Amino acid sequence: MENNDKNLYPIFHKIAQRSDKERLLRQRSKVIWLIGLSGSGKSSISIEFEKALYKRGYLTQILDGDNIRSGINNNLGFSVEDRVENIRRVSEVSKLFLNAGIIIINCFITPTREIRKMARDIIGEDDFLEVYVNAPIEVCEERDTKGLYKKARQGIIKNFTGIDSPFEPPVNPVLELKTHEQSMETSVDQLLKVIGPHITYKETSEAKVKE
Ligand code: ADX
Repeated sequence: MENNDKNLYPIFHKIAQRSDKERLLRQRSKVIWLIGLSGSGKSSISIEFEKALYKRGYLTQILDGDNIRSGINNNLGFSVEDRVENIRRVSEVSKLFLNAGIIIINCFITPTREIRKMARDIIGEDDFLEVYVNAPIEVCEERDTKGLYKKARQGIIKNFTGIDSPFEPPVNPVLELKTHEQSMETSVDQLLKVIGPHITYKETSEAKVKE
């Protein structure tokens, strides 16, 4: 359906361009999407990675599953449909940040290839950088920082990812971090090395602010 049929008149073309904002911030905005099981280390890595980027002068925003599900997505659960809706909204919110020139670090289980494809389609191939935070389920269960695996095993929590809800490993991530085999420092170093070139500002004629 056309927007006009819904009586909507978006003003996207009239507002300051993403390139103007990237120029202001001297950075290129991207969505860095950390995928992995609950307890794999996504949130901890995002916090340290954000600190490292902050020190280097980058403006970032973390969107984290537990935070987002306590706020904008507090009406969603863990059925397949609700996970799809969770990721759809997060992808749309990411796009808003992207257009503000901000680097987004997302931490969501994002369990299936289909859900990831939807996120990639909404955000756009060039701006979507998939990172697999890979720790075997036995390790995540052993860590059980939130006590949720125990509850899932007891049947108190249903549809728990890796127990009675699927998790498909990413096929072609830009980076895989094996958090059970390497230190936090190594993971952050690898992120800086791989993500760095994507967010480094390069002056282009198109990025000149239109008066
Ligand atoms: S996603 O599948 O929709 O991407 P999301 O990352 O937002 O999941 O939320 C996962 C977090 O919700 C987990 O880290 C955990 O703290 C909590 N959680 C509660 N119930 C479940 C469940 N059934 N499956 C997975 N995570 C759950």
